[in-house]
Amino acid sequence: MTPPRDIEASAPVATARKSVSYSWEQNLSTSPNTFQSPPPSSSWVAHLAQRDAPKLLKPFNTQDIKILLLENVNETGRDILTQQGYQVESFKSSLPEDELIKKIREVHVIGIRSKTKLSKKVLQAAKNLLVVGCFCIGTNQVDLDYAATHGIAVFNSPFANSRSVAELVIAEIITLARQLGDRSNEMHRGTWNKVSTKCWEIRGKTLGIVGYGHIGSQLSVLAEAMGMNVIYYDVVTLMALGTARQVGSLEELLDQADFVTLHVPDLPETRGLISTTQLDLMKTGSYLINASRGSVVDIPALVQAMRSGKIAGAALDVYPNEPAGNGDYFNNSLNHWAEDLRSVNNIILTPHIGGSTEEAQRAIGVEVAEALIRYINQGITVGSVNLPEAQLRSLTLDEPNHARVIYVHRNVPGVLRKVNEIFGDHNVDKQISDSRGDVAYLMADISNVQLQHIKEIIGGLESLSSCIRTRVLY
Ligand SMILES: NC(=O)c1ccc[n+]([C@@H]2O[C@H](COP(=O)([O-])OP(=O)(O)OC[C@H]3O[C@@H](n4cnc5c(N)ncnc54)[C@H](O)[C@@H]3O)[C@@H](O)[C@H]2O)c1
Repeated sequence: MTPPRDIEASAPVATARKSVSYSWEQNLSTSPNTFQSPPPSSSWVAHLAQRDAPKLLKPFNTQDIKILLLENVNETGRDILTQQGYQVESFKSSLPEDELIKKIREVHVIGIRSKTKLSKKVLQAAKNLLVVGCFCIGTNQVDLDYAATHGIAVFNSPFANSRSVAELVIAEIITLARQLGDRSNEMHRGTWNKVSTKCWEIRGKTLGIVGYGHIGSQLSVLAEAMGMNVIYYDVVTLMALGTARQVGSLEELLDQADFVTLHVPDLPETRGLISTTQLDLMKTGSYLINASRGSVVDIPALVQAMRSGKIAGAALDVYPNEPAGNGDYFNNSLNHWAEDLRSVNNIILTPHIGGSTEEAQRAIGVEVAEALIRYINQGITVGSVNLPEAQLRSLTLDEPNHARVIYVHRNVPGVLRKVNEIFGDHNVDKQISDSRGDVAYLMADISNVQLQHIKEIIGGLESLSSCIRTRVLY
């Protein structure tokens, strides 16, 4: 199979000439972000300080990097990419598949959110694509396996919205305890209904957190600040924050908590984690909150428990089936119980907005844009969801004639021996290699390397049957 064309590999001499301006071909680079050496300093101390400064590695003139951003990616992320000197084109919405296929042919990087489907068919057209940035949490809109086996890294931002979810849950705890949703709906219908029966303060009540990860642990701190007692259950033993206390089983938590809130991932073990048996174990008059994944709660069982008075209130932000866009879709054709659920009192239903805040969008924009830059400029894959995670310390300005060689390859026996034969005549300063399933990722920093050597190294690597993609950074 012919390996996908890499930008450098397709024109190694031309790109190298542009990039090696500092040490070999003064002034050829037009990059705004410098590949130039710092100006000579008369100060010996200043010179020493400069020696350890990290060198900005560039694949080639950064203006050549074309980035397509879809679905109104947050402007903070867009600005970070533009400031690198990349050519950034952005669209407010997603593109129909045929337009997407046309556009993706030209670009090296694509940034999407959840609506753009990067299927195998679309990715097959993406001959220059190096990396995908999912400016969101999920990545199931991308064919990750196809991307990995074609040397395309995929990054996302799984935790940038944890605080937003934790704050939503705090709001829901008070809203449920005071039946605010029902009172507000009544007022909207013109009904004045001033009641205090079964309305509570949250101070002194017990919050049971199931899953003490990024969101669960933040929530723990916020809830305690409001005077709640916090207990949590997690499959892993985790250090408690504040005076929170880990309990030994889910059953123990359900037995003690006035409010149960779920913050677990979608795993085979967490599907239907809360069903009739668990609801029966909860205190009569307690509350259930689910802002994790729609599969975690058996919703018909919850409806039944609420109608019987066992559960006094619930808040749901996630559902087994969720519509692809906004509109009047929350009905029985989406989930067969939807209309029954809508008719229950003291239940807050929100359209998966736990992480939907301006702050979270900005944080996602920064995190994903920075991951893209690290990957484009330095080849670092830390945070990638489909390639092995590999990092090498930066080259410094003191190391002018170095090149970083990246070899994405099939993980087959004997490949490292062949790679090291190719590197054999050169001085490999440092090297890292890791694999994930069938794909492996190797980075090597080679010193005192000349243009001709780089051509030979790349040619050698590309002739190996294991080759998926090669890149060279200077
Ligand atoms: N509503 C939203 O908009 C929104 C936004 C962000 C995240 N989420 C979802 O919230 C959930 C939690 O996210 P997070 O960032 O805190 O995840 P996380 O990975 O940081 O934490 C999850 C925790 O759950 C624990 N866990 C796993 N299986 C368990 C089990 N069977 N019982 C008890 N604990 C278990 C893990 O050990 C981990 O500590 C995820 O499902 C995520 O998809 C929803």
